[in-house]
Amino acid sequence: MSHLKQAGTFSLGDRSVNRMGYGAMQLAGPGVFGPPKDHAAAVAVLRAALEAGVNHIDTSDFYGPHVTNRIIREALHPYAEDLVIVTKVGALRGDDASWNPAQSPAELEQAVHDNLRNLGLDVLDVVNLRIMGDVHAPSEGSIEPQFSALATLQQKGLIRHLGLSNATLTQVAEAQRIASVVCVQNQFNLAHREDDALVDALARRGIAYVPFFPLGGFSPLQSQTLSDVAARLGVTPMQVALAWLLARAPNILLIPGTSSLGHLLENLAVAELQLDQNVMAELGSIGKG
Ligand SMILES: NC(=O)c1ccc[n+]([C@@H]2O[C@H](COP(=O)([O-])OP(=O)(O)OC[C@H]3O[C@@H](n4cnc5c(N)ncnc54)[C@H](OP(=O)(O)O)[C@@H]3O)[C@@H](O)[C@H]2O)c1
Repeated sequence: MSHLKQAGTFSLGDRSVNRMGYGAMQLAGPGVFGPPKDHAAAVAVLRAALEAGVNHIDTSDFYGPHVTNRIIREALHPYAEDLVIVTKVGALRGDDASWNPAQSPAELEQAVHDNLRNLGLDVLDVVNLRIMGDVHAPSEGSIEPQFSALATLQQKGLIRHLGLSNATLTQVAEAQRIASVVCVQNQFNLAHREDDALVDALARRGIAYVPFFPLGGFSPLQSQTLSDVAARLGVTPMQVALAWLLARAPNILLIPGTSSLGHLLENLAVAELQLDQNVMAELGSIGKG
């Protein structure tokens, strides 16, 4: 049995995944643009993740663009039966590496086909609509046209399950009236807890919450409390940050991103790290939302 099972599993629609997964965004070049500095290392990280028991990978065709998906295909195709690849659509990259909304039905359909082709799949397991009302944080506004377009592609058999990214609870409810939402992927970590209530609301509905930037993303988490707890437990601050998320709610699925084999193994080892109530309370004071 993979040691990842110790952190438990959660459902994404009819698929069950280990709560400890892997986010592939860091496999593209600097600024998530262009090819990686070390292509062979990127392939090795993906294969090591699968070998360690990872069966949930997060990606998008706009990482690179195309780069991350093509590396996943090169490293892992034909895919293990239990592997669930979650992708996202709703943005396109400019030649200057900018991130631009691409939310018309035609653009969303094109993005689904780009993901299918570059991943080498006939059906995408899970597609998140990346909401771009405000690029950096969830903001209210109807997502009916975009989500209906994806629901149509689901009905055509190109997508198994749908999710949302950068979403509010109101948008989740709106989407649920169109088609089932299996996951929500928003920014959330020890120091960034605006979604505390959303995490719990989704837990009550059996919907997975998948924090992006679990380690702080482009601004790695830094906190004296975090460092003190890590030193006391004999682990790294990043491991404590991930263990806090696992303990925070049962519907949280982790997709920490890394291009480094050492960091990958360090992150996956967190599946066996449990924090007691006192430590949780101490860490909880860092970024109360
Ligand atoms: N939906 C969205 O809008 C959205 C936005 C951003 C990301 N995402 C998804 O979320 C995933 C996770 O986010 P992320 O990769 O941006 O941020 P993250 O997981 O918070 O942090 C990644 C950063 O931390 C470093 N790192 C990873 N493990 C480490 C460790 N054990 N010790 C020290 N440093 C470590 C990585 O560098 P090294 O490569 O050197 O390890 C990288 O710089 C992405 O892969 C992507 O799939 C989604």
